[in-house]
Amino acid sequence: MCGICAYKTKENAVKFAVESLKILEYRGYDSCGISFLKNGEIETVKSLIDIDDLKKKTENKTSNLVIGHTRWATHGGVTLKNAHPHLSSSNKIALVHNGIIENYKTLKENLNCAFQSETDSEVLVNLIESEKGSLIEKVISASKKVEGTFAIAVIENGELVVGKRESPLYVAYFDGGVVATSDISAFVGNVKEFYILNDNEFASLNENKIEFFNENGEKIKKNAEILPKITQNFKIFDKTHMESEIKETKIVLKNTLKEYLNSSVFSDLNLPKNIKEINLIACGTAFHSALMGAEFFKEQGINSHTYVASEFRYGREILNKNALYIFVSQSGETADTIACAKLLKEKKMHLLALTNTPNCVLNRICENVLPTFAGKEFAVASTKAYCCQVFVLFIFSLFLSQKLQDNIDELIKFTNEFQIQDFDKDLLNKISSFQKIFFVGREKDYITALEASLKLKEISYINSIAIPAGELKHGTLALVDENTLVIAISTEKNVREKLLSNLEEIRARGGEVVLVSNFSCKDYIKIPLQAMHENFMPIVSIIPLQFFALRMCEKLGYNPDKPKNLAKSVTVE
Ligand code: F6R
Repeated sequence: MCGICAYKTKENAVKFAVESLKILEYRGYDSCGISFLKNGEIETVKSLIDIDDLKKKTENKTSNLVIGHTRWATHGGVTLKNAHPHLSSSNKIALVHNGIIENYKTLKENLNCAFQSETDSEVLVNLIESEKGSLIEKVISASKKVEGTFAIAVIENGELVVGKRESPLYVAYFDGGVVATSDISAFVGNVKEFYILNDNEFASLNENKIEFFNENGEKIKKNAEILPKITQNFKIFDKTHMESEIKETKIVLKNTLKEYLNSSVFSDLNLPKNIKEINLIACGTAFHSALMGAEFFKEQGINSHTYVASEFRYGREILNKNALYIFVSQSGETADTIACAKLLKEKKMHLLALTNTPNCVLNRICENVLPTFAGKEFAVASTKAYCCQVFVLFIFSLFLSQKLQDNIDELIKFTNEFQIQDFDKDLLNKISSFQKIFFVGREKDYITALEASLKLKEISYINSIAIPAGELKHGTLALVDENTLVIAISTEKNVREKLLSNLEEIRARGGEVVLVSNFSCKDYIKIPLQAMHENFMPIVSIIPLQFFALRMCEKLGYNPDKPKNLAKSVTVE
């Protein structure tokens, strides 16, 4: 993970770099820092607090050449020494790095210098220093010795060089000079066009000239891309991003449906004929929406499997040339998902990216793209994007089975009538002391249970598990006692009675049950759900459970937008 930026400008670039870092903070917020050139020397300022603290510390600093970093710790704990930028042992070169240098231990043993940090990145800056030639030559020859991934920005003697392998990096001219960042949304200044660096490409950046190089050090020409204008006119402002984003779900589902009904998204697709098999690959919350998608496809008679990206890549799956492979990802940047997409592209499979970020890496790999129109998510925990992914997968399943036209009224009715439902405050007070929480459900409700449990763990740090209700008696029931809270989701009509029997088994062991359901039932504490068509219930039912995680987090005094140990974009494997 981590976000990097670099500026070479006519005027003071420090404020630009800090502003970019603020936008890149979603990529990691363990620490941050900048290095800049001042009177021929490199000065470095770091913070273990946040970008606002870095901003205060650099208010009076000026420089025309700055590199910046916001960190998600991989190698070495969260300390100032491990915070980037890292300097070479002579203090002449400074580097910021996003990625992992896998062979850093071997490289370190062969470098004859003193190290200040435990990071792989400090090894890289010293490796660069040990090479011969100009800065660009040194960076390119060092990169050849490196195994792993990197997006780097390096400064030495007033020169700025950037390069990348696997981790994203974009460069651009703007009216004040040149810029490089991990994400095009972090360009500060008036950028109209930008360049995408491909793997093993490098650039030397001067105020008014960017030169590109390949891994052999040869100059290459690159075409500029137009910077897309991302305007978000539906932002709800609440006290946290997470609360705003859950509340935005209704608007973004409406927007998404409008886009799918009015634009050419489906007619632009180049799909295999008569699809009989769809395989979905994703991580985390996106994996849960993929699981939901597989259920929708199966309902339409399309055989469907779902894979966790980090497992699929090294697994033994038998590929099917006639199948469609769907990669679900909010960011479109997740390293594990991207690695699978690249692998399947090499094998000439049919690929489709379902993403929430225009111009993302995954969209560029896959021949087909289905966008979700959820707008940017700032909170680390994905909420509105999850609902949009589930919604688009449902719409796509109808499209594939040629039932979309017949269901348009139903879809419109849903987006008009659907209401955002907070978690009941009194109930929260009653159950918030439970430390052992199970989420149970059957069929699609089990998938909702998985997502609800992940949300709770992620932001409130309460350990919880999700389990198919019928599976409890095969082992996990041993954990149930009067200290156990079981949140049961029941929206699937055909397994309703079975689920209720499972809940009786829990109650018989002293467990407290809360039923989240659109069916009437007097036997349990109930969170009544708005009744909608069964296929929309995964969206209806997850909302109060997202709020449950949020309200528990707030009750415990944590910041839901920045959970510990996590980052919004997971760009390392
Ligand atoms: C959890 C969450 C993560 C992401 C996962 C994949 O709330 O957001 O589990 O879903 O890291 O990220 P994307 O969707 O960007 O590929």
